[in-house]
Amino acid sequence: MYHIACIPGDGIGPEIITEGRKVLDATGEKFGFEIDWADYAIGADRYLATGELISEDELKELSQYPAIYFGAIGDERVKPGILEKGILLAIRFYFDQYVNLRPIKLLDGVSTPLANKNPEDIDFVVVRENTEDFYVGIGGRTKAGKKHDDLAVLRNLYNVKFGVDVETDADELAYQIGVVSRKGSERVINYAFDLAMKREKSLASVDKANVLTDVYGLWREVFAEVAQNYPAVTTSYNFVDAVTMWFVKNPEWFDVLVTPNMFGDIITDLGAMIQGGLGLAPGGNINPTGTSMFEPIHGSAPKYKGMNVANPLATIWAGALLLDQIGESRGAAAMVTSIEHSIQNNIVTKDMGGNLTTSAVGDWLARDILGRN
Ligand code: IPM
Ligand code: MG
Repeated sequence: MYHIACIPGDGIGPEIITEGRKVLDATGEKFGFEIDWADYAIGADRYLATGELISEDELKELSQYPAIYFGAIGDERVKPGILEKGILLAIRFYFDQYVNLRPIKLLDGVSTPLANKNPEDIDFVVVRENTEDFYVGIGGRTKAGKKHDDLAVLRNLYNVKFGVDVETDADELAYQIGVVSRKGSERVINYAFDLAMKREKSLASVDKANVLTDVYGLWREVFAEVAQNYPAVTTSYNFVDAVTMWFVKNPEWFDVLVTPNMFGDIITDLGAMIQGGLGLAPGGNINPTGTSMFEPIHGSAPKYKGMNVANPLATIWAGALLLDQIGESRGAAAMVTSIEHSIQNNIVTKDMGGNLTTSAVGDWLARDILGRN
């Protein structure tokens, strides 16, 4: 029996999570395991009613689970950033989920906007660092004059404080500090090399070390050092702007990429598009020895809330990543195969050119896993 926490969240979150759980439960039935789900009503509704985002007690409680299955957060009634930082990023940082794993795979039967590219051309994984870089969230704004700012980042790996003295004659300016550490880079780059060893033994590092020479200079240095321990892996150094170009022109060049946080955010939205859209893009926030979290990379799409029209496939696929993480890889592979079957049979929602509801797609997949279609 696996104990898994569940945060359905806002907007379409609850609907897509219901389908994901349905398919995960069916997969358990097929492969001989059971999931005991524990629900947490964390999200915009509770925040608006009580002012609470996620409490220290909840975080402590969540740490007893190997994984959290997460729907989506975001609500028009709440200022952008509050729920994202207060819930999603809070979980990623609290649990030190330093790997954000995002497969970019064009499934058979899905159409890509890239001309003349097929499933064998688009099949790679982005390993995004998930705790550092400009996501540490320290910075400030100032008007002309003098100001002192004390900024701090608290992490499991280290704490760091910056005392910033600002003196400017600009009428107004803002600044943001990005942090990249040796250990923080090393662990995620190691993870990416290990993954590359299990796949096609090729790893591309992404940075912008030609301009942000300090943060990404360190990243590049650590990458080169770690690479020495993996002589079997072919490596390349890529600037992020060029990577966006190659994703479109030659996606077949890539198998595993490793990237600092912010560039990873950007290139995985592009990746989602070339694999058929946000409706098909899952992500795992992984702490290999702690509590991980699995989610679709799309948002809460409040416009479609409660309409039973949202595409549940990214969430279901995120469920497969969850199974992989807890060691049920046969079940995980079966889920991805069933997703492929559903697409080939046009069992898809409107965004993918079909006419099925969210729950009908989930029902079909659960039956398919059990060999009942
Ligand atoms: C993602 C999202 C998040 C991120 C937001 C919602 C904070 O865009 O998971 O890619 O920037 O990481
Ligand atoms: Mg993003």
